[in-house]
Amino acid sequence: MSKLMISDAVRYIGCDDHDLDLFESQYRILNGVSYNSYLIVDEKIAIMDTVDARAGMDWFANLEQELNGREPDYLVVSHLEPDHASNIQKVCEKYPDLQVVGNAKTFGMLPQFFSMDFSGRKVEVKEGDTLELGGHTLTFYMAPMVHWPEVMVTYEKTEKILFTADGFGKFGTLDTQEEWDDEARRYFINIVGKYGMPVQTLLKKAAALDIRTICPLHGPVLKENLGHYLEKYQIWSSYRPEEEGVVIAYASIHGNTAAAARKLAALLEEKGQKVSVFDLARDDMAEAVADAFRYDRLVLAAATYDGGLFPCMADFLYHLKMKNYQKRTIGIMENGSWAPMAAKLMKEYAEGFKDCVPAEPVVTIRSTLNAASQAQLEQLAEALTEKY
Ligand code: FEO
Repeated sequence: MSKLMISDAVRYIGCDDHDLDLFESQYRILNGVSYNSYLIVDEKIAIMDTVDARAGMDWFANLEQELNGREPDYLVVSHLEPDHASNIQKVCEKYPDLQVVGNAKTFGMLPQFFSMDFSGRKVEVKEGDTLELGGHTLTFYMAPMVHWPEVMVTYEKTEKILFTADGFGKFGTLDTQEEWDDEARRYFINIVGKYGMPVQTLLKKAAALDIRTICPLHGPVLKENLGHYLEKYQIWSSYRPEEEGVVIAYASIHGNTAAAARKLAALLEEKGQKVSVFDLARDDMAEAVADAFRYDRLVLAAATYDGGLFPCMADFLYHLKMKNYQKRTIGIMENGSWAPMAAKLMKEYAEGFKDCVPAEPVVTIRSTLNAASQAQLEQLAEALTEKY
């Protein structure tokens, strides 16, 4: 069965984007991204979301090919973010009888994006409402804040497909050969991660459904081993660590804090620990944030700069705070040549993270490691591993 066929009646009409530099103008996507869209062909035809404006021409070509001369009856809008909704007005202009299916929040926000009057073609649905297409029946479940307030998911009961909006999405085009976990984690933590509770609510609703296929708005259609993906979503949305390991995130100006961070990494590895080291000035910030959630321990290592934190560390901590970082052990290492301030500032941040515990001692480096700071480093390595 080709990529375009989920089943005889359900067709993929989305598009790969290999050229976008930054998703949401902030996330590096070396393997691009897909904007997924689906067509359910029955007595009535339903389009399940559109795509980003960048892919509009290709999407219309896919749509027309799968319509094969027929006209669509419904456009189900599960999410109004422009990477999925950009072509709503255009497709409505092309098909004058097309009805738009959304909820009260969808229709409240729709005029903010489009000049068109949708009043004659609204099908407003609420939790549990159904829409008959013939042999297929759609049931709508509200999923507010999985990622935006108007988000809803759609269950098709004949084929047992759940259309999950951004949920279960990942970076990477569909022709990218890679494991799901890493890019799905980087996507989830950075984009949906703030909204753990709403995701938990959605997972409870999903648990009551017999699901054979998950059709997300980004990344591959999931058909096998669904328990794996559901388990990952349970872990990520409850902010539990996924595995044991230490992330060392450093912000170094001239390399001395970096050298101390690498020294700590070596000490931890000697003790059999899995370690993931990030140079916050150069490495992918979104991956550093995702790994901070993946593992159970974190070390923040930063130079003092202008009496404050070296900026990339401040940026990292801001990201963690925004994504509800919690339930981890945190060690701190600072550097300051004349008036070290970084530890105080990092501690203030860390104390604001829910249910996090400190690993002592704080390591203070004066320019370069010396016997005293080396001893602190060794004590910190002990503290980080004493329970493992
Ligand atoms: Fe893929 Fe929240 O949009």
